[in-house]
Amino acid sequence: MWKTAVDMAAAFPDGFLFGAAVGAHQVEGGNTNTDWWWWEHREGTSCVEPSGDACDFYHHSHDDIAMLARFGLNAFRFGIEWARIEPAEGEFSTAQLDHYRRMLAACHEHGVTPILTFHHFTLPMWVHELGGFAGSRFPRLFERYCERAARSLGELIGYACTINEPQGLGWSGYVLGVNPPGVKHDERAARRAADNLLEAHRLASPAIKAHTKAPVGVTLAIPDLQYEDGAKPGRSGFEVESEINDQFLELARSDDFIGVQTYTRIRIGPEGPRSPGSEWSAVSRDLAETDEVTQMGYEYYPRALGGAIRRAWKSTGGRIPILVTENGIATTRDERRIAFMAEAMDEVLDCLAEGIDVRGYIHWSLLDNFEWAFGYMPRFGLVAVDRQTFARHPKPSARWLGEVARSRSLPTAWGAP
Ligand code: BGC
Repeated sequence: MWKTAVDMAAAFPDGFLFGAAVGAHQVEGGNTNTDWWWWEHREGTSCVEPSGDACDFYHHSHDDIAMLARFGLNAFRFGIEWARIEPAEGEFSTAQLDHYRRMLAACHEHGVTPILTFHHFTLPMWVHELGGFAGSRFPRLFERYCERAARSLGELIGYACTINEPQGLGWSGYVLGVNPPGVKHDERAARRAADNLLEAHRLASPAIKAHTKAPVGVTLAIPDLQYEDGAKPGRSGFEVESEINDQFLELARSDDFIGVQTYTRIRIGPEGPRSPGSEWSAVSRDLAETDEVTQMGYEYYPRALGGAIRRAWKSTGGRIPILVTENGIATTRDERRIAFMAEAMDEVLDCLAEGIDVRGYIHWSLLDNFEWAFGYMPRFGLVAVDRQTFARHPKPSARWLGEVARSRSLPTAWGAP
C-alpha cells in the first residue's frame, strides 16, 4: 500500500539540526574492557554474536564524519567510551581523550554540530565488578568520569547527552536478564539501578556544564504508549520504564534539552501490552520482516515520534527544547527507511506547527552496526558496511536525508510499503 502526502510546503526552521547517530560500542570495534564484551562472550546469554571489530569506526571516524557532511547533514551524534577514557579506576587516558578531541574537531571542520553521548549502555569492567549500575558508588564514579572528560573536550561539544536511555537499564539488566549483568527477576536491584542512574544524571549535568557552554540533557527511549479501551495500567516492563521516564522528565525541567528516541508505539490492551515486538524474548524469535513489523519485530508505525515528542514537551511544562536524538527502522528495504523517515519527520513538522520547540532530527543510525544481543542482522544504517574491508556503501536513504537537510523541507510524496 502506498500513501501520499500532499501539500507539504512547510519548512524546517533555520538552524534545525539534521543528522545521524552512532553509539561507541556498536561501531568502534575492539571494545574489550567493557561489561558488554564480557557478556557477548559468555555462555548462555541471548547474544547471537560478539561485536568484534564492529565497523572499525575507531579508525574510520574522520572519513565517516566527512561522508556525513557530504550527504548534506549538519549534525552527528556519537559517544565516548568510559572504558577507554578510564580503563582502571582513577586512571585517565590522555591519548584516548585526544582521540575524541580530534573527532570533535573534525566535526567542526566539516560544519557539523557534534552531539556527544557520555554513556551508551557499556560500563568499564572495573565498574561492572563494583556492582555496575546497582552499585552504591556508581553515581559518584560517573560524575568524576564526566567531569574529567568534559574538562578535556568541553569547548568542542555541541550538545552533551549524559546517559543514553537510562530508563531501561535496570529492567533489562536485573529483571529480564537480557543485558549485563544478566540477573533475572530482581526488581529491587533494578530499582536500585534506576535510582542510581537518576542520581548519576543529576550529578553529571553540573559536572559537564562546568566545562562547556553546550546544552546538557539526557536521552530517553519514549515509545508512543497507547492505552486502549478497557486497559488497566499494569506492571509490564514498558510501564515500569514509563514511570522511570516520568522521573527523568521531572529532572529534565532543570536540563537544557530532552533527547527523545522513538522506534514504535506500544498498545496496551485489557490483557497488557499487545503490540508486535512487545516481548523481549524477541531476541530468540524468528525475526522475519513483514509489512506490519520491522526486522526488530517492532510494529511499523513511524507516527509514534509525534506522540513521544508531545509527551516529553508536556511533561516538562512546554519549556525544555526537544532534540530527536534517535529515530529509525531496521529494514533490508531501503525505500521503506525513506518512507519511515518521511512520515516521522512529517510528525516533527506537525509538532513544530503546534509550537513545540524541536531543535533537530538525528536519525538512527549512520551505519549498519552492532545491534547488541541481536548482532549484525538488523540493518538500521543509512550506510552499509562491508565487515571484512570496512568499506562504506551509502544507501539511497542517506542521499534522501541529505536532500531534506539541504532544502529544509520534505518532498510532497513518499511511499509506505
Ligand atoms: C539504542 C541504540 C539501539 C537502537 C535500535 C536504542 O534503544 O540507543 O543503541 O541500537 O535503539 O534498537
